[in-house]
Amino acid sequence: MLSDAYVGRSHRSKEGRARLKSLIERSKEMLGLPEGYRLGIVPGSDTGAVEMALWSLLGARGVDVCAWESFGEGWVTDIVKQLKLPDVRTFVAGYGKLPDLTQVDFSRDVVFTWNGTTSGVRLPNGDWIPAEREGLTICDATSAVFAMHLPWDKLDVVTYSWQKVLGGEAAHGVLILSPRAVERLESYSPVWPMPKVFRMVKGGKLNESIFQGDTINTPSMLCVEDAHDGLTWAESVGGVLGLVERSERNLAAVSGWVARTPWVDFLAEDPATISCTSICLKIVDPWFEGLSAEDQAKVAKKVASLLEAEAAAFDVGAYRDAPPGLRLWGGATVETSDLEAAFPWIEWAYAEAKAAG
Ligand SMILES: Cc1ncc(COP(=O)(O)O)c(C=O)c1O
Repeated sequence: MLSDAYVGRSHRSKEGRARLKSLIERSKEMLGLPEGYRLGIVPGSDTGAVEMALWSLLGARGVDVCAWESFGEGWVTDIVKQLKLPDVRTFVAGYGKLPDLTQVDFSRDVVFTWNGTTSGVRLPNGDWIPAEREGLTICDATSAVFAMHLPWDKLDVVTYSWQKVLGGEAAHGVLILSPRAVERLESYSPVWPMPKVFRMVKGGKLNESIFQGDTINTPSMLCVEDAHDGLTWAESVGGVLGLVERSERNLAAVSGWVARTPWVDFLAEDPATISCTSICLKIVDPWFEGLSAEDQAKVAKKVASLLEAEAAAFDVGAYRDAPPGLRLWGGATVETSDLEAAFPWIEWAYAEAKAAG
């Protein structure tokens, strides 16, 4: 797999640059991006890509930010407390819910996460976004891209990272820009200074070379190669259609288990919003619900640690800011049979934790 890797070579060499460019082209093609959309590899993983977008684009008009879990709330903090934009409206819902999206005003810029990774609540579709809009839509879709169908023409900025659905090596972010986002970059300059790692504009024009493989700074060519490998695997399972199908099949398996297991339920309240990648579960056993929040967290942790000790399942504890519970990854790299194999183990672990009080 690594025989074509340009490790130990400059990423600015003819071959290194070509490898980056072909990764960009392959990604755009597989995702089916509309004509005129740019895709670039940027520093700082998904966070880097989102920050780059927020810092570069916001401030030209009012902003509506929607959040329903920890990562989305992080973007609220960035916009309100770091960028300190004067005209911001926030629409924040608790874990398990979506905010009222009908309140969003698309004459403003709109920032949101497609899939709330830590609550397992996703947007069911893009019907709430008008095709004609004055503001930009800026979407952190890191746990959605390649596992959910995205309405590209309704999204002006989309970000993701390789380690999520494609299971690649982490480090780099991917930033997708619509022609309208490029127009904004070329017509508006924020008043604040722009660090070099965020800078996409040169002499008032988009620095197109970033979107051709001239990364802003040095990428890991090993990660780049691994991302190529991820795409090759994705092609072998039918591209985006195949990936979405694999992920949805995983969710269907979990749904079946949840339906026949009385003590567990989805954290997402509306079935239409249940994520097929970050599948977050709550414990609905009356015994558990009668415990203090602290004891609930202890029990959930115990379930996760019992599973780890048996090497039956790893990292299944809910995210640190989420309500105590379990989280299963249902992304395309996961085999449904592995999830099926985990269910009896999880039942065993919960029974053990409950018996231990
Ligand atoms: C929705 C969302 N946004 C941002 C991040 C941060 O991503 P990264 O670690 O790639 O910067 C994550 C990570 O899980 C996420 O799920």
